[in-house]
Amino acid sequence: MQTDIFTTLEELNKEIHSFRIEDETTLEAFRIKFLGTKNILKDLFGEIKNVPNERKKEFGQVINAIKAGAEERFLSAKEVMDASKAKNSFKDLDLYLPDDTAHKGSRHPISLVLSKIVSIFERIGFTVAEEREIEDDWHNFTAMNTPDDHPARDMQDTFYLKDSVTRLLRTHTSSVQARVMTSTQPPIRIIAPGRVYRNETISARSHCQFHQVEGLYIDEKVSFADMKQTLLYFAREMYGIQTEIRLRPSYFPFTEPSAEMDVYWGLKDEVDHRITKGTGWLEILGCGMVDPAVLTNCGIDAEKYSGFAFGMGIERQAMLLYRVSDIRMYFENDVRFLKQFHSVG
Ligand code: DAH
Repeated sequence: MQTDIFTTLEELNKEIHSFRIEDETTLEAFRIKFLGTKNILKDLFGEIKNVPNERKKEFGQVINAIKAGAEERFLSAKEVMDASKAKNSFKDLDLYLPDDTAHKGSRHPISLVLSKIVSIFERIGFTVAEEREIEDDWHNFTAMNTPDDHPARDMQDTFYLKDSVTRLLRTHTSSVQARVMTSTQPPIRIIAPGRVYRNETISARSHCQFHQVEGLYIDEKVSFADMKQTLLYFAREMYGIQTEIRLRPSYFPFTEPSAEMDVYWGLKDEVDHRITKGTGWLEILGCGMVDPAVLTNCGIDAEKYSGFAFGMGIERQAMLLYRVSDIRMYFENDVRFLKQFHSVG
C-alpha cells in the first residue's frame, strides 16, 4: 500500500510536468484537473490515513511539493499565454483610428501672441533676430546711448550677475539692436522677440521677467513717416482693420525723436474704462528714429543711413487680448489656466 501511494504520487508528478498545455482550453483543463475544487490531489490528501505514521510526514512533504509544482506550471503557462495574447491583439489594432486617450497640449498665451506679432512683421520683410539673455553693459546700455552716469539707467532696475559689474540680465530687447548693428551693415530689417528681466517687485501688474519684441529698420532715407505707416499696419493687423493709432512725444535715450504709440481701444464698457483709464487710448509701444549716436557707436555711417526702432511688451498685450487680470498667471504654469488658450486668430 505504502509503495503504491508513493508510486501514484510520482506518476502524478510526471503527469503534471508532461501535460501538454497548448492553448487556453488545455490550460483550463490542467487547472481543473490539478488545481480545481475537485482536483486529483485532494483525493490523494485523503489517503494520508492509510500511510504509516513514520512516513506521514514524508507523504505530506511530497504531496505539498507536487501541489506547488502544479501551481507553478499553471502560472508560468498562463503568463506565456497572456503575453502572446497581448502581442496578437496588435493584429487588430488600427493605427489610423484617432486616439481619444491622448491629451492635446496647448501653446502658452505669450508664445501665441509672440508668434502673431512675428508673423505680422515677417509679412513685410522683417526677419527674426534672437540674441542672448545674459548681456554685457555695453550692448544693453552704453551702445544704446545710455552711458554709466545717464539717469535713464535708473528707469530699468537691473539684475547684475554675481561678482560682476558688467554682466547682466538684459533689461530690454534693445540690446539686440546693438548686437545686430555691430555685426551687419544696412539694410537692416529685424524684429527681436525675447525675454527680459528687471528687478521689480512682483505684483498683479508687474513681474521681474517678461517678454518684448524689438524692431529695427535701417537703410538710406528711412523716415518718421515710414515708421508711422509700419506701426499703423501692425496695429491694424493685430487689433483689427479699423484700429486707430496716435503717437505721443516721449523720451528714450536711443531714439530722437521718440514717441509712444497708443491704439484706440474704445470705451464700450466698464472694463474698457478701467483698461484705458477713461481715455479710450491704450499705450502699446515705444518707438522713434534711431539716434545717430547709436548708429555711430555700432559702426554704422550716420550720415548715410537713418532708421527707426520700436519696442513693445508682450504680457500686457496678451492680457488685453485674453482679458487676463494678473500677470503672474503667465509664469505659474497652472494647466487649468494654460489649457484655455488656442489662438488669437
Ligand atoms: N527699450 C524700451 C523699454 O524697454 C522700449 C523701446 C522704446 C524700444 C523705444 C525701442 C524704442 O526700440 O525705439 O522700455
